[in-house]
Amino acid sequence: MDTGLVKIFDTTLRDGEQAPGCGMTAEEKLRVAYQLEKLGVDVIEAGFPASSEGDFQSVKLISESIRSCEIAGLCRANFNDIDRGWEAVKGAESPRIHTFIATSNIHLKHKLGKTRDEVLEIISAAVKHAKRYTENVEFSCEDATRTDLDYLCKAVDIAIKAGATTINIPDTVGYTVPEEFSYIIRTLKEKVESLDKVILSVHCHNDLGLAVANSIAAIKEGARQVECTINGLGERAGNASLEEIVMALKVRHDRNPFKTRIVTEQIYPTSRLVAHVTGVNVQPNKAIVGANAFAHEAGIHQDGVLKERITYEIMTPEEVGIPSNKIILGKHSGRHGFKRRLEEFGYFLSESDFQRVFQRFKELADKKKYVFDEDIEALISDEFIRSSNFYRIISANFASGTDMRPVATVKLLIDDEEVTVSEYGDGPVDAAYKAISKATGISPNLEHYIVAAITGGTDAQGEVTVRIEEDGVVSQGQGASTDIIVASAKAFINALNKLRWRKEHPKLASTKGV
Ligand code: KIV
Ligand code: ZN
Repeated sequence: MDTGLVKIFDTTLRDGEQAPGCGMTAEEKLRVAYQLEKLGVDVIEAGFPASSEGDFQSVKLISESIRSCEIAGLCRANFNDIDRGWEAVKGAESPRIHTFIATSNIHLKHKLGKTRDEVLEIISAAVKHAKRYTENVEFSCEDATRTDLDYLCKAVDIAIKAGATTINIPDTVGYTVPEEFSYIIRTLKEKVESLDKVILSVHCHNDLGLAVANSIAAIKEGARQVECTINGLGERAGNASLEEIVMALKVRHDRNPFKTRIVTEQIYPTSRLVAHVTGVNVQPNKAIVGANAFAHEAGIHQDGVLKERITYEIMTPEEVGIPSNKIILGKHSGRHGFKRRLEEFGYFLSESDFQRVFQRFKELADKKKYVFDEDIEALISDEFIRSSNFYRIISANFASGTDMRPVATVKLLIDDEEVTVSEYGDGPVDAAYKAISKATGISPNLEHYIVAAITGGTDAQGEVTVRIEEDGVVSQGQGASTDIIVASAKAFINALNKLRWRKEHPKLASTKGV
């Protein structure tokens, strides 16, 4: 019997990671995976193991660490990919092989150079091969929404007959519209009898901004798995956003009578974590998790909300995990309160790590009147979500103003040796970056520099995100401080550490997928 339960398949670590500038290290991916487990997703697509040694290792690590979600590895429909994929996921409590091939004429002709019959044979052989390893096999018809519908039915039927237990219908290029997608799903349900025995899934991209609407249309026609990402990350315009689908089902349960296992209070912490590790900030007006999603600016709205929330709010911030009382701690807060708050965030630190973070919290609390949740997150991120430290800042001092040439002096620890350099620049950030470049001997291109205030007020921490590139290797870094020049220096050092790590581990560095 259909219980109306929709499985949430999160592909932030695979399709999400394919978004420009979203590469994550294995350590960062594991941290996100733990948070996805807490969020209650059913399936984590941890990566594309055959695409690189780095992806293989991170899928393996996640498979061996996460216990309560299925772990999927993406594989093209060939034996090598599937063998490699299985090697990566086999340590999981519940491993899944996800294999795919394109089925549209456009892809057959221009990408694969194969006939329709050849592709049907490949599907059957690939699924059967995957089945030798596990019962849990998903098959996707890439570019399904631009595939001839009769042929799509044939491809799906063959995959099910070969043993696929989940059939995924991707709108790979975000081309379909809700009524058309409903029709595709309805037709598949009507024409492919065997579809009743398996789970039907959809995977929508957002090129026309319709990924969530299309996913919900498909659920209404019988899809019982949706593939989505946190913050809607993903190739090009991204994938369907997990938080939007889940809340649309929850808030409009009257119209969409379906359930998920998502713990909605974990949505916001997950969104923040993903933004931190990828360095891709959430747009302020993003539904559910954007900074303005619950901000009421217009006087008439504020007045209404103060009188009765329901006038302008269709859900509460608490429901999606945005704390109502954002002030959490001050300089008189003790170790216990701080530790408990960290644990509420999901950070269970060893005693020595805790000491380091507590020390930094005390320093911050001395500078700031109030320490907000976001400050704590930034601090943790600054301290831990960082790759190896080849370069560390010992001190950084800057001088600038209307009547002087900006100058920066930085003292760095570089491979255990202290180096001090002073440089002038167009502004203090420029001076700091020049000094750091001179000290480290690396002068990458600065592709992006974004500064954002983490909380309100003039004593707010600034968080800087930078993306740098050298010899085709890209990395991004973040830094937070109450002084934005210090935050900028930290972000640059963080990015340089990752850049060097990526250059020294070309095989392990995270890659782009398909
Ligand atoms: O968009 C797509 O078609 C995909 C498949 C590989 C599932 O990501
Ligand atoms: Zn995709």
